[in-house]
Amino acid sequence: MTPSAPQVPTQHPYRFPVAARYAGMESSPLKDIFALAALDGVVSFAGGIPDPELFALEDVTAAYDWVLTHQGHRALQYGVSEGEAELREQAARRLSRDLPTDASQIRVTSGSQEGLFVVAQALLEPADVVLVESPTYLAAVQAFSAHGARVIGVDTDDDGVIPEALEQAIRVHHPRMVYLIPTFQNPTGRTMPVARRQMVADVLQRSDVPLIEDDPYGALSFSGSTWAPIAALPGMGARTILLNSMSKLMSPGVRIGWMRAEGPILDTLAVAKAAISMQSSVVDQLTVARYLEVADLDAHVARVSAVYRARRDAMAAAIAPVLPEGAHVTHPEGGMFLWAALGEGYDAQTMLADAVDAGVAYLPGWSFFADHADRSTMRLSFVTHAPAVIETAIGRLGEVIAAHPRR
Ligand SMILES: Cc1ncc(COP(=O)(O)O)c(C=O)c1O
Repeated sequence: MTPSAPQVPTQHPYRFPVAARYAGMESSPLKDIFALAALDGVVSFAGGIPDPELFALEDVTAAYDWVLTHQGHRALQYGVSEGEAELREQAARRLSRDLPTDASQIRVTSGSQEGLFVVAQALLEPADVVLVESPTYLAAVQAFSAHGARVIGVDTDDDGVIPEALEQAIRVHHPRMVYLIPTFQNPTGRTMPVARRQMVADVLQRSDVPLIEDDPYGALSFSGSTWAPIAALPGMGARTILLNSMSKLMSPGVRIGWMRAEGPILDTLAVAKAAISMQSSVVDQLTVARYLEVADLDAHVARVSAVYRARRDAMAAAIAPVLPEGAHVTHPEGGMFLWAALGEGYDAQTMLADAVDAGVAYLPGWSFFADHADRSTMRLSFVTHAPAVIETAIGRLGEVIAAHPRR
């Protein structure tokens, strides 16, 4: 006799008291991204979701096989909060191309999202201010807000955060830390040029405010040029926590990233990481380490970037003619995102339902602003679909924009 399925009560569910920081947050823009991405018949540009066809499945399979065959007992056991030695070595080797790094300066995280949470746990007191680019990565704002921080946006231009605005905001708000994504930024795709990086570093050093530098996209360059992190500028290594992730380069499913820091904060980061999740998956850490040792990640990233570049070109060409006069669109030199500001009188959130009806989804830009949102903005990820699909879907988006004249 097969047991019958347990009844899940749907009427009058027990209402747990919810912490104020999560009150009213039954949904989140991040969850909505995945819902939009899953809609049948809709071409979604909403998520920053790598094309699974481009995963290096054979190399990753070989790495898992090798780890389970040769290190199986260790791989299935608890590990250390700092991260497995082999992975920290590999991370330090990659970082040392720009910034001399020892394995002891690496803390492994389950993706850089957890890294942001660990940093918030370690550094933030309730009511502390965190300065961020306006707009910025929305889940970083969530991680900081969940720790009681006040997140304040600083003005940006096509070169990233404006140094004078940053200095002024530091003077007014006395932030605990500044959070920046200098290369192929999420959501705008913009990159901060070297001279601007130096100006920002000068501001941070003059005002003695630490930097949280998030760099998950830097290797995905379309021009072959790469940018050293701000952490690599003189005097910045010791005052920066630099976050990297394997999500966009190898696989978001393995949930492996790391942070680089210097000095006593490394101990605090390890304690915070232990409190949150003890350690990241040992199997996955050892597998990523093995993959980095024997597979050619640079060659893989170069192949993926070439495909993404063609998709960026397709989206840039398709979107230019369908945007209203006065609209602004970025031209990313790498990464995953293109950012369009339709201009005053447009509301990308209101337009989304019609866009979805027309078979195309994007992410309304308002959610990427910590404050003073520009509701005319939208983020479009160009990496998930082939050029022909992008062209057709952007054509449909153009019809939706034309049907929503400026108010
Ligand atoms: C700027 C930025 N930081 C961090 C993350 C988190 O990525 P993961 O946790 O997969 O490493 C993302 C993901 O989209 C991102 O865009």
